[in-house]
Amino acid sequence: MRYLILSDIHANLESLSLLAEKYISHLNIDKIICLGDIVGYNADPAACISLVIHNLKAITIRGNHDRAVAYNNFDFFSDHARMAGIWTRNNLSPEHIDDLAFLDTGPEIIDTLFAICHGAPTDEDKYILSPYQSTSEFSWLQRNGINVCFFGHTHMALSYVCNKYADMNNPAHIKTVRDNRIRIEADKYYLINPGSLGQPRDGNPDACFALFDTKTMVVEIIRFPYLLENTQKKIIEKKIPHGSYLASRLAGGY
Ligand SMILES: [Fe+2]
Repeated sequence: MRYLILSDIHANLESLSLLAEKYISHLNIDKIICLGDIVGYNADPAACISLVIHNLKAITIRGNHDRAVAYNNFDFFSDHARMAGIWTRNNLSPEHIDDLAFLDTGPEIIDTLFAICHGAPTDEDKYILSPYQSTSEFSWLQRNGINVCFFGHTHMALSYVCNKYADMNNPAHIKTVRDNRIRIEADKYYLINPGSLGQPRDGNPDACFALFDTKTMVVEIIRFPYLLENTQKKIIEKKIPHGSYLASRLAGGY
């Protein structure tokens, strides 16, 4: 099986439509998986919901922005995220809001092979940004007998690996992985982040996604440039609050 795994689209139609045209149609993909945050920050929430859920039929779990927009509850959001979320809700039909409300909450197990979640298996809102923050998540993998979990939310293609026989409560035993190619080995646990398709925050503005081939047991992290100037233009034209900040962070990858 070949799985294409994407996360954190954030209403960026330029990167999503290029992914659909350039990669999904040519890479011989069996299943598409979305780790949440279809909406928020950028200007095309309705088109992105339609493309991901209805056209691509991606297996999708909700992100914190999808949940906040669906239930109109922006507690704990920063000012710019909340205001962009309110703009998003005001620019969606009731049907599209229902699409977001009906998304499953992670974690989910895919084909008995691997887990998916938005933030972390133990908490959809948690950010995994260090070995220390990943310890309880590796314990979750061990308890559930799963080797691999794909997670999003941080918008960074940073992954973590731990030997199955190591003390996974000790962060010193957990390795941070920045490689674009990760070979899955049977004696290790993996927490893999495919990066963000619509708003990367690891200093590289190129869109990012992952390809997992279960025949070779290799995960590839793939990056591609897209017309982010068009995404920036729409943010300004459609008057999304804090638009100049949102547009500049796309170009800066932060
Ligand atoms: Fe996000």
